[in-house]
Amino acid sequence: MNINNFTENLQFYGRRKGRKLSNSGQSAIRDGKDYLIKEEDIPNIFLNQKYIVLEIGFGDGENLINSAKINPNFFYIGADPFLNAIAKCLGKILQYKLKNIAIWPDDVRKILKFIPNNSISEIKLLFPDPWPKKKHKNRRLIQNEFIKIINSVMKYNGTITIATDHDLLKKWVLEKFQSHIDFEWVVETSKDWRLRPNDCFQTKYELKSINQQRKPSWFIFKKQ
Ligand SMILES: C[S@@+](CC[C@H](N)C(=O)[O-])C[C@H]1O[C@@H](n2cnc3c(N)ncnc32)[C@H](O)[C@@H]1O
Repeated sequence: MNINNFTENLQFYGRRKGRKLSNSGQSAIRDGKDYLIKEEDIPNIFLNQKYIVLEIGFGDGENLINSAKINPNFFYIGADPFLNAIAKCLGKILQYKLKNIAIWPDDVRKILKFIPNNSISEIKLLFPDPWPKKKHKNRRLIQNEFIKIINSVMKYNGTITIATDHDLLKKWVLEKFQSHIDFEWVVETSKDWRLRPNDCFQTKYELKSINQQRKPSWFIFKKQ
């Protein structure tokens, strides 16, 4: 699959806008605009940063912001097309004066074609939309083509961490990644998928899941 074919006809099915932005949300969008990645910024980011972590669908940004705070030597790229999430995250970036982070305010699949091969050290995908109905399975982000493309942009020994509490998606994720020979599931005991890894922070969706008595699973795959 050629990456241009992959991105040409893609459709985004999630929400781009929610409630009207509050005054503070509007200010964050205005004051934080330098943190938004434009196509032309991408080569410089990848030239200047050695350890890049891509978080896909950061939502309220709990994991993205806390990770950037404790790892000042890593560079974080957060991708999310949802305006309200972007505003919230920019607000926190400004509040903590973070320098090691940038936001791609769109579908992650659109930035992938600009990312050089072998350049991302880690990918985090926490609680992606499960699209549980069979007729919507093509809307799930994790597809064979998507795995091939993230495989090319990831460094060797780089990892992708995927969290989900949806049984159908758990099975889907394992099947898709295990059928891809370039990825190895990093697992020794059941704790490895039952417990949140030490390098991830609790997000709104994890909390919601626990409150509703569901059981999140955490899968880590390594590029070999
Ligand atoms: C269920 S929420 C999870 C949010 C957060 N990770 C958490 O754990 O609370 C899924 C998020 O993924 C974002 N999203 C959906 N499709 C995406 C895509 N193609 N690229 C980037 N983000 C996407 C949505 O806008 C939403 O913020």
